Amino acid sequence: MAELYIGLMSGTSVDGIDAGLIDFSHSKPKLIAFECTAFPNALKEKIKQLSSHHALLLKDYGALDCQLGHVFADAVNQLLKKSGIAASEIIAIGSHGQTLFHEPNNSRPFSLQIGDPNIIVEKTNITTVADFRRRDIAANGQGAPLAPAFHQAVFTSLNQSSCVVNIGGIANITLKSNQQLIAFDTGVGNTLMDYWCQKHLNKAYDDHGNWAKSGAVIPKLLQLFKQADYFQLPAPKSTGKEYFSTQWLENHLTDFSDCNANDIQATLCQLTAESIADAIQNTRQDIDELLICGGGVHNHYLLSLLTGFGYQVNSTKTVGIHPDHVEAIAFAWLAKQTINHNTGNLPDVTGANRAVILGGIYPKTNPKPSY
Ligand SMILES: Nc1ncnc2c1ncn2[C@@H]1O[C@H](COP(=O)(O)OP(=O)(O)O)[C@@H](O)[C@H]1O
Ligand SMILES: [Mg+2]
Repeated sequence: MAELYIGLMSGTSVDGIDAGLIDFSHSKPKLIAFECTAFPNALKEKIKQLSSHHALLLKDYGALDCQLGHVFADAVNQLLKKSGIAASEIIAIGSHGQTLFHEPNNSRPFSLQIGDPNIIVEKTNITTVADFRRRDIAANGQGAPLAPAFHQAVFTSLNQSSCVVNIGGIANITLKSNQQLIAFDTGVGNTLMDYWCQKHLNKAYDDHGNWAKSGAVIPKLLQLFKQADYFQLPAPKSTGKEYFSTQWLENHLTDFSDCNANDIQATLCQLTAESIADAIQNTRQDIDELLICGGGVHNHYLLSLLTGFGYQVNSTKTVGIHPDHVEAIAFAWLAKQTINHNTGNLPDVTGANRAVILGGIYPKTNPKPSY
């Protein structure tokens, strides 16, 4: 019998919402349908504004929480329509939510993902699991990254010489060391390259990294970027756009105002590649293969830079999951863990003091409301 879940993911890139419908009844997760819905520009701007100006008005926060709840629910209903599968057949939705804030190292740590799950369950009539990160934080963890438990469970062929590299807005790595898993955020992924591209080319991202490729790395600027404390921190660690913010970038550029914009893009791309390679090297594991997922897989220039560090660079497709689908499937899997009362965090990875059941469950009401 099928074991169907839906995963919803919208990451720090704020590009849109990934929705995947997955059957977990086989030995490997089987993707039934997938849909990526781009956020309309006005919504994108609102999210970016609220996540970068932290002194936001409560009513703006509430309005966005509500709007995103509707957008996420619509994405689910669209996915069901496309696949021809009834809502009643889905066990649960795992909704990551849109991160507005992630600061696990504060004296009062917290991470905030919004997109009201009450609206999702009410509009879809599917039990919804959301707010995955805060239980791990309550157990003294970073609340991130959470996908590594899924990587471990599904990439069973992952051997000690391969490393999963997810390049979203922020990048994170997962690798095996004996029976233990090492996984953490390496730092910048796509967000700063996206910002720079939007600012100078008025495009959401640097298609295939061609603009970066047209420039030359500015060694002094790269060196300055790499002095960021985050790169020196030991794991467990996680980061977000609060740290690697557009302001962080602009501050570093004060003495480089004469430089060409494409040279700065080349330097940012090099920073993403080099911080990933450095992080892997610092684990002292003998890694020779990178398995890439996340939108960064489409940045061919970035991949060529990673190849330049001596790695064989493949996508996660070679181990059974399309690189664009990994994160959505991971949150469907995390919902399944929660529904089955299984833990979802890995204390070695997040630094939590124990493994816990993640998220809040918003149960559906039977029968389906008639309105
Ligand atoms: N054709 C492409 N060329 C270069 N970069 C791309 C391309 N397609 C997507 N990307 C990058 O991938 C990002 C989205 O990646 P994603 O994994 O969805 O990140 P997140 O999880 O943060 O939402 C985009 O913002 C962009 O930077
Ligand atoms: Mg995305």
